[in-house]
Amino acid sequence: MIPDQGPRDAVVPPAERLKARAHVPSMERYKELYERSVGNPDEFWGDIAKDFFWKTKHTGPFMDYNFDVTKGEIFIKCMEGASTNICYNLLDHNVLHRKLGDKVAFYWEGNEPGDELRVTYRELLQRVCQFSNVLKSQGVKKGDRVSIYMPMVVELVVAMLACVRIGAVHSIVFAGFSADSLCERILDSQCSLLVTADGFYRGDKLINLKPIADEALQKCRDKGFPVSRCIMLKHLSKETEQATPGSQSPPAKRPCPDLQQNKQTDRVRKTRPAPQVPWNPDVDVCWHSLLCGVSDECEPEWCDSEDPLFILYTSGSTGKPKGVLHTVSGYMLYTATTFKLVFDYQADDVYWCTADIGWITGHSYITYGPLANGATSVLFEGLPTYPDVGRMWDIVDKYHITKFYTAPTAIRLLMKYGSEPVHKSSRASLKVLGTVGEPINPEAWHWYYNVVGDKRCPIVDTFWQTETGGHMLTPLPAATPLKPGSATFPFFGVVPAILNESGEELEGPGEGYLVFKQPWPGVMRTVYGDHQRFESIYFNKFPGYYVTGDGCRRDGDGYYWITGRIDDMLNVSGHLLSTAEVESSLVEHPAVAEAAVVGRPHAIKGESLYCFVTLIQGVAFSAALEAQLRKQVRDKIGAIATPDFIQNAPALPKTRSGKIMRRVLRKIARNERDLGDISTLAESSVVEQLFENRCSAAI
Ligand code: PRX
Repeated sequence: MIPDQGPRDAVVPPAERLKARAHVPSMERYKELYERSVGNPDEFWGDIAKDFFWKTKHTGPFMDYNFDVTKGEIFIKCMEGASTNICYNLLDHNVLHRKLGDKVAFYWEGNEPGDELRVTYRELLQRVCQFSNVLKSQGVKKGDRVSIYMPMVVELVVAMLACVRIGAVHSIVFAGFSADSLCERILDSQCSLLVTADGFYRGDKLINLKPIADEALQKCRDKGFPVSRCIMLKHLSKETEQATPGSQSPPAKRPCPDLQQNKQTDRVRKTRPAPQVPWNPDVDVCWHSLLCGVSDECEPEWCDSEDPLFILYTSGSTGKPKGVLHTVSGYMLYTATTFKLVFDYQADDVYWCTADIGWITGHSYITYGPLANGATSVLFEGLPTYPDVGRMWDIVDKYHITKFYTAPTAIRLLMKYGSEPVHKSSRASLKVLGTVGEPINPEAWHWYYNVVGDKRCPIVDTFWQTETGGHMLTPLPAATPLKPGSATFPFFGVVPAILNESGEELEGPGEGYLVFKQPWPGVMRTVYGDHQRFESIYFNKFPGYYVTGDGCRRDGDGYYWITGRIDDMLNVSGHLLSTAEVESSLVEHPAVAEAAVVGRPHAIKGESLYCFVTLIQGVAFSAALEAQLRKQVRDKIGAIATPDFIQNAPALPKTRSGKIMRRVLRKIARNERDLGDISTLAESSVVEQLFENRCSAAI
């Protein structure tokens, strides 16, 4: 199936039909506001802060910082002296002052079509207050860390905001992580309590979450860190269900008001195996039992601006995950503002971000940003391909989604099945499409724009990181002329620069290291428990700058193009090559759905290009196709980029969040079997298959 292709390098103008209501309706307005945001950040952010509730006002400068390791310790402070509570701003403020109590905060869409639930701002506030009281009854206090290991259910948002309400620090661990990974994260942040669920379905597959959580807790105990409490939500199990033989059963769910009663799951549950629920009465407590009779009022804990808000682990180049720490006020302002302007949020929008809350995209753009704006969102538990590959578009039509945010990997996955499944839906409600997580190749960009958005919806290609808290480089839908594959320009308050190897700033067009010259409110404050590591990863290489670790090119029009991680840059015969660039030209071939390129040592050239390609369904790999692909890349980039190896890869090794694990591909290309930590790998059988079929000699 050949994707619907658009004109290759044409600039796509900003959406005319959005301009009338848009917050930033033109490039002129963007430039004006941008100048103000970097010239006078105190005034710019100070104005934005007026829309939020502050218990006490800030005293010092709006932002205070040191980005230069040669001048002392790195620090960033925003609105010091002010006190607030984010949960209060997200819920109470919306219910009491903005009169949004009856507005839907979330439409929950379960894994199984028909399994659904809606929760209003008022209901969410009540649930959060109740669970805040539960946490307090379990001894959780301000500053304590709470680990949350849950599927994509409303109660996950309830648990995270309950922590925030009482000033506890949440550390959410994606529910696809292993017991070892969960244990490692609990130990690193010394969490006193774990909140989890019995299990969940991903498509047809039952995930028994509780046994994994138990294994993690056992590992913690073995390492001398007993977690005193584990609160388990019954997401799948029925009241009468017995636990696994040999273990004690959790108490039956009592008839108290909780979110579960609104669900339609019983129909589905009857036909499906129930989860295994081992029970340890010394540690385990049942979410539902704890809620019975608990008050739905809870006074928020007023927190200082720079109190810790949450820890979120992200992989580090050394293998050990980094606990990225975000703090209260700056993160709140930044996620709220980026959400409002980047998606051009309007009160009648229905927004859907397909990420999992276990990742930063879910934190910032499912929970914090949307709720701070009083938005209505869809919270989706399932998979884009279950029960069929039209699921996403069915959901778009069902809820009349206006703003849709997903990842290039999801787009490429669906692109593989062609346009027919998309055309079965109307998608007429869509206004803005977003993408995040990796460079989007123009091929996928055009398919997203032409087929999904029917050429009506601008694509906001948002570049940012767990560490940045929110969007950094991004178009604004009614203002920015788009260039497919470019994250375009900096968001307000963001000052990017491109440095060469010697740390000199490049002026005008050029390619090098992407850095930021001054802080923005949402920047991380430290690596939890290891400030030195924070300084060495982000600030040591180029004193005075925050170093993203990404390569970037600026073109003659000032557009920024992320070229991939610096560690994915290859040096072929003395020329720096971006793997993303090679991948993009491979994917431009109509037979290729996805490509990943890594370096393999070469005696003469230094490095050679080893390419893995996943073909569109139904296309066979052949010598003729291989030759075409080689020519395609050579024609597009130049002889220097001609692939040395092209391997047919029916699937690529990916993390559970969908990122291609290039580190593993490099090992396959080199035939090195010591893969290191592959706990984040989603499907381990893929790796073996690729080893078996690897190319051994260059052509
Ligand atoms: O390499 C960049 C890539 O993802 C990295 C950040 O990953 P993570 O912390 O997991 O956060 C992902 C979600 C924000 C970046 O260093 N990346 C993210 N967005 C883009 C991107 N690369 C190119 N274009 C993007 N839009």
